[in-house]
Amino acid sequence: MNAELQTQPSPTALSGLPAHYAAKLGALSGEAASTPSESHHGSRASSNGAASVSLSAAVFDSHKYDSGPLREACAKALQHPQPDKPPVSIELRFLESNLDVHTAALAKGCEAVCVFVNDKISAQVLQELKSLGVRLVALRCAGYNNVDLQAAKLLGIAVARVPEYSPHAIAEHAVALLLALNRKLVRATQRVRDGNFLLEGLVGFDLFGKTVGVVGTGKIGATFARIMHGFGCRLLASDPVRNDALAKELGLEYCDFPVLLEQSDIVSLHLPLTPESWHLINADSIGRLKRGATLINTGRGGLIETEALIAALKSGGVGAAGLDVYEEEEGVFFADHSGTVLTDEKLAWLLMCPNVLITAHQAFLTQEALQQLAVVTVRNLSALANGEVPRQADVDGQRWLAGV
Ligand SMILES: NC(=O)c1ccc[n+]([C@@H]2O[C@H](COP(=O)([O-])OP(=O)(O)OC[C@H]3O[C@@H](n4cnc5c(N)ncnc54)[C@H](O)[C@@H]3O)[C@@H](O)[C@H]2O)c1
Repeated sequence: MNAELQTQPSPTALSGLPAHYAAKLGALSGEAASTPSESHHGSRASSNGAASVSLSAAVFDSHKYDSGPLREACAKALQHPQPDKPPVSIELRFLESNLDVHTAALAKGCEAVCVFVNDKISAQVLQELKSLGVRLVALRCAGYNNVDLQAAKLLGIAVARVPEYSPHAIAEHAVALLLALNRKLVRATQRVRDGNFLLEGLVGFDLFGKTVGVVGTGKIGATFARIMHGFGCRLLASDPVRNDALAKELGLEYCDFPVLLEQSDIVSLHLPLTPESWHLINADSIGRLKRGATLINTGRGGLIETEALIAALKSGGVGAAGLDVYEEEEGVFFADHSGTVLTDEKLAWLLMCPNVLITAHQAFLTQEALQQLAVVTVRNLSALANGEVPRQADVDGQRWLAGV
């Protein structure tokens, strides 16, 4: 466990929670990420003499790898304010726990919450946050399928995200999964470590000349397509919004989703999870895949119906699967369960498969992406401190959802 996250929670932050629960949550409270000249909020003088504004935010599901960049970004917001903006002093309350109905009270005293992919920002959670005076949900991720946007709008809580942070990080991880699966790197490494230098069972295939189906050609899908173009692959794509410049640049052909499934040797998912895209890969669509195709998912777990994938792996319909996301990952990923029995039988089955490679939602985890996530998140928080976030968030208009 991260040492800095073991600091005792502040009594103020945890008042109202049962003592045993507050202790279990292991909150790190009252620690200023920047160095404000005084601890209460409002306008104050910064170290360079300019009047600064301040706010505090509860950072849920916090880990050492993201708390460091957030602290640095906060220090910069105070020392190097944006042109024509006052310095912003942001106090971050780092919390290990996920945000849900049981933990929302930990945001007491904060104007904003800062959340990640498996925090559950339901209508009930938003109601609780509203009663605590929270005015902004700052997502430190691109996807927002875990936020009830309509409820946020009704309650006048703004929602901001980080729409872009190194698409290379995610696209390169998708390629890493593909290469490791195809060339059986995990098995090969385990084998030679064990003194077994046989090559039986390690045969892969050339990527050169294979057909790759890219589902979603936004920022990440386009980056992935460019990398696969470099391998000499034929590129198919499906996306309701065509990127004609990309098609021209790479010789990529847009086609209907069923055609993409039927013709691709490799299918990689790079679209958001929405009610429409939920279980896009299901018993019906997976049956259309070219027999033995490789499926890569770095999008969201809910894009794939896990039972359908398991059935297709058993029948050989899917030859291999590389998954950075899993539909039941909430409560499992981002935590150490190595000392306990895995109760999710579908995940346990997938983990046993030699032709399945699972990473725990780490595609974003590069230094560049973490830095960008922190900088934009702090910019979103600063906008709230500067009074730029409207009380009635226009989430439909995407303005606040798109970040500020
Ligand atoms: N694993 C990770 O660490 C990680 C990190 C960042 C993002 N993601 C996921 O990757 C997704 C894509 O990110 P992005 O930055 O490229 O988003 P983006 O908005 O730039 O692109 C998404 C594309 O998907 C397309 N799309 C929407 N519905 C579709 C459908 N039914 N079929 C085909 N295409 C469809 C959109 O038109 C758009 O072009 C995010 O929504 C997020 O869920 C995962």
